[in-house]
Formats: sequence, structure tokens, C-alpha cells
Amino acid sequence: MLCLGIESSCDETGLALVRDGRLIAEKLASQVDVHAVFGGVVPEIASREHLRVLPVLFRELLKEQSLTVADIDVVAVARGPGLQGCLLMGLNFAKGLAFSSGATLVGVNHLWAHLTAAGLDQELQFPSLGVLVSGGHTHIYFIESPTMFTLLGRTLDDAAGEAFDKTAKSMNLPYPGGKLVDDLGKLGKVDKKMFPVPYIKNDNLDFSFSGLKTAVVTYVNAHPELRLDAMGLPDPATESAEITSARNNMLASFNYVVGRKLEVKVERALKRNRGVKSLIVAGGVAANSVVRSVMAGVADRFAIPLVLPSMHLCTDNGAMIAYAGYLMAESGYRHGLDLEAIPRGRV
Ligand code: KG4
Ligand code: ZN
Repeated sequence: MLCLGIESSCDETGLALVRDGRLIAEKLASQVDVHAVFGGVVPEIASREHLRVLPVLFRELLKEQSLTVADIDVVAVARGPGLQGCLLMGLNFAKGLAFSSGATLVGVNHLWAHLTAAGLDQELQFPSLGVLVSGGHTHIYFIESPTMFTLLGRTLDDAAGEAFDKTAKSMNLPYPGGKLVDDLGKLGKVDKKMFPVPYIKNDNLDFSFSGLKTAVVTYVNAHPELRLDAMGLPDPATESAEITSARNNMLASFNYVVGRKLEVKVERALKRNRGVKSLIVAGGVAANSVVRSVMAGVADRFAIPLVLPSMHLCTDNGAMIAYAGYLMAESGYRHGLDLEAIPRGRV
């Protein structure tokens, strides 16, 4: 079975081909540079970019593999969550292909696809606990099978990735700043008392990250010397070794709090779901070094494997959609040409 995956939910246009569960080719066009000047994704511009790039990538993908449209059995497309206009670009492209070629159309949940992406590199075991930490979501799922997910907990306000991006922004680090906050934090020393770890002394599996964001912004306002210049660089006239290390220490302490919050809730979820066979952690923030090591510790304590997609599968891509679509098609899922986008919702 040859499955084409199409990802266009936000600012990455991704196309990939999965044959019988194995990735054979992929194309990815990032719009990060297009949006960086605005400090965030501009939906209208993002949609237009998808419209422009999708056919170009598709033609390249087929040409490189010496394939034709007729070789594609399944067209899988991310139907949400994401930006409405962006999703519609991918959906319409997918529908056009399915309509003209007769291929099966499958709409894929973008968040679930993040969590099953690791299946491209390793065998997944079910049931599993799934932790999705991305720019828009922080979800804990009980995953019964690759197509059966139950939401156990979610963020009540900001997503983990937003906390990273807003922290980065408050320091003038270029968007999306999660990776830079991670990298600079690695150079610093953690002060566990610098920021509170709110919303863990309760009985639920939900998250709240907005308090942390406010704490960071307040701290940076009180220590403006920690900010970088408008280019995201230290000012050579005023930067001293003390300022550099104070900045790195602050970011290390921020990374610690995010890791600690995840640790408490994921441990709680595992205590309540003793039968799970693995802990799957995915989404852009799963690339974070502190998150990775904290989750490794949790999995160790519960004597289950930690499953992480390889780095290039952590952020948005077409391969995860192609793979999830393949799994769905294998289980008998089919959608009609009336398939709709689901931009948001409790999924
Ligand atoms: O999953 P993703 O690529 O897009 C969404 O579907 O949201 O996640 C993007 C998020 C951004 O907030 C970005 O700053 C964050 O992932 N991110 C990181 C790291 N790499 C990407 N956050 C922390 N540490 C990282 N190394
Ligand atoms: Zn994503």
C-alpha cells in the first residue's frame, strides 16, 4: 500500500510517501523565515504559502521516485487541529488528488499523528501513554491502539511550546525560540527556587503554563539587562560574563520548571494506568533536552520504554501524516470528499 501524507496545518508544508508502513520519501518546506519578521505565524500568509508550495513539492516527490499519481493508493491529509485556512489548502489538494486518481482519502488527526510517528523507526506497543507537547497543545492520552485515543489531560491555558516561545520573545530571542531557550539553558545552572511550579498540587492531569509565562516576563522586566538586542544578540558594549551566565541560569531554571510540571502529571497518569506498555512523548517540545531526560527518568521508574520520535519527526512533517494515514487505512478507515477540517476542539 502506497500512502501519500500531506501536512499543512500551520507553517510547514510537508509531503511524504509511506509504502507498507515504511517511509520511502519526503519533502518539507518550512515557512519559519517568512513569519519570523512578524514574531509569529500570520495565518493568511501561511495559507498562501501552502497553496504555492504544495504542487511544487508533490511534483518533485513523484519525479524523484519515478512514480505517477496512479501509483498512490491512499491520500492521507492532516484535517486538524490547526489553522483553518492552512488546513483547507491541504484538504483541497488531497481531495483533488483522490478525486482524479480514485485513491482512498483519509483525514488524519495531526496530534495523534505526532504520537504514532515513532512507529516509523521502531515497533510501537499498545496500550501506551502518549504525551503531546507542541506549540499549540499539551495533551496526555491513553492510547489503546494507533487509531483509538482517549484524552486524559490537557492544558487549560497556554501550551508548553507557547511558554517557550513567549519566554524567548520576552528576551528578544528570534521566533520560534524553543530551541534557543533549550540551547542557552544547557549552558546555565538551575535555580529551583527562581520560578514557582504552579498547578501541580491538585488531583488532575491538566496543565497550566500561563503563570510560568507571567513569572518569566516579570523576572525579565525586573532584570532588563538579561534581554538581548533587537537582533537577538548580546550587546557587546554592556554584556559581561555575569550577565551571560545570569541569562543562561534563568533559562535553565525555566526549562527545569517545564520539565518538573510534565514529570508530576505524567507520573500521576502512569500511576492511574498501570497496564501501559510504553511512554510515548512527541511534538516540537519533545525535542527539548530537559523534557527528554525528565521523561526518560519517569519511564525508568515505571520500568517501561520511553518512545521518542527521531528529532526530524518531532516537529511538523508529512511523514507522520503518511504513517498515521497508512495505519488508519489498514484499519479500514475511509473518508468521503465531504471531509471537513477540524481546526480546534478537545481531541
Ligand atoms: O509540534 P510543533 O512543531 O508545532 C505544533 O504543531 O505546534 O511544535 C513547535 C513548538 C514551538 O513552540 C517551538 O518553540 C517548540 O516546539 N520547540 C522547542 C524545541 N524545539 C522546538 N521547545 C523547547 N525546546 C526545544 N528544543
Ligand atoms: Zn504539530
